Amino acid sequence: MNPTSEPIIRVRGLGKRYANGFTALSNVDLDIKEGEILALLGPNGAGKTTLISTICGLVEPTSGSVTVGGHDIHKNFREARSLIGLVPQELAIAPFDVVANTVRLSRGLFGLARNDVYIEELLGRLSLGDKMGNIMQQLSGGMKRRVLIAKALAHEPRILFLDEPTAGVDVELRKDMWAIVEQLRADGVTIILTTHYIEEAEEIADRVGVIAKGRIIAIDDKVNLMSRFGRKQLTIELRDPCDSVPATLEPFSLERSSDGRRLVYSYDTRADRTGITSLLQALNSAGLQLKDLSTTQSSLEDIFVDMVASDNDGAVE
Ligand SMILES: Nc1ncnc2c1ncn2[C@@H]1O[C@H](COP(=O)(O)OP(=O)(O)O)[C@@H](O)[C@H]1O
Ligand SMILES: [Mg+2]
Repeated sequence: MNPTSEPIIRVRGLGKRYANGFTALSNVDLDIKEGEILALLGPNGAGKTTLISTICGLVEPTSGSVTVGGHDIHKNFREARSLIGLVPQELAIAPFDVVANTVRLSRGLFGLARNDVYIEELLGRLSLGDKMGNIMQQLSGGMKRRVLIAKALAHEPRILFLDEPTAGVDVELRKDMWAIVEQLRADGVTIILTTHYIEEAEEIADRVGVIAKGRIIAIDDKVNLMSRFGRKQLTIELRDPCDSVPATLEPFSLERSSDGRRLVYSYDTRADRTGITSLLQALNSAGLQLKDLSTTQSSLEDIFVDMVASDNDGAVE
């Protein structure tokens, strides 16, 4: 990925107030790089579907702009939309549609020439090669979802949106889903998915945007964001400053303040063992006297905890 290249999707000052007066998006700025997997993580009602639908040109924003591949989503809807495949959150399925036909039709809707070789290959990749002649009603839930992905990819888009692709699906299908996403990434497709599971974002995404109450409250590379989410810091104030961290304390990767009066230990709040007990023992063995101890956690973690709490309140599953 070329870091200096233009973002494939550029969102500026995007706002959406629905007709009933409810503000679902406020002043959203977002650049999506070509080839990346971006997870939009947020509780139910955060505005994920609204954001995706607005980027795809299906919902009219109240303010702001969206360009896709340099095309304004409203002024140049066809050009912009042709770059996008969308798998919606709600599975809308016509029970008597034949698999191969419905996927072919999706391609045709974009005015592309028929290409049965591509459609066959696509269905094969989605493990639907032997279901081409079946009607939708004859498929399992997981197969139906895969057909919807095939429909979204029928016109060979460069960008794929997956809105809650694994909500309510079993572990097996979830794994399949990630394998499909990996394969698409290898083909260079840019993928934006929404989820309200932090583990899911952690597993699959390059970058994670946290969305709550219609705002993107944090967005960063997964590694950075997840370490900030899951970590807490213990600050140890020493009675006497130390010149360096004693070698026996090396396994704890402590950060020493420049005046040597404080040592900071970062630990994973989600781990079974935080390591604090053994750290305190090691400090004692190293002859360091403690003056005070305090813990802090990143504000992002606080936000996430609040988010999870509100998610649990409003969860449907
Ligand atoms: N057509 C609509 N009219 C009014 N409010 C809506 C409409 N669609 C969504 N909302 C509200 O906007 C908020 C965000 O919804 P949505 O984008 O679906 O969130 P998410 O996908 O994160 O669960 C919710 O409070 C929802 O009730
Ligand atoms: Mg949604």
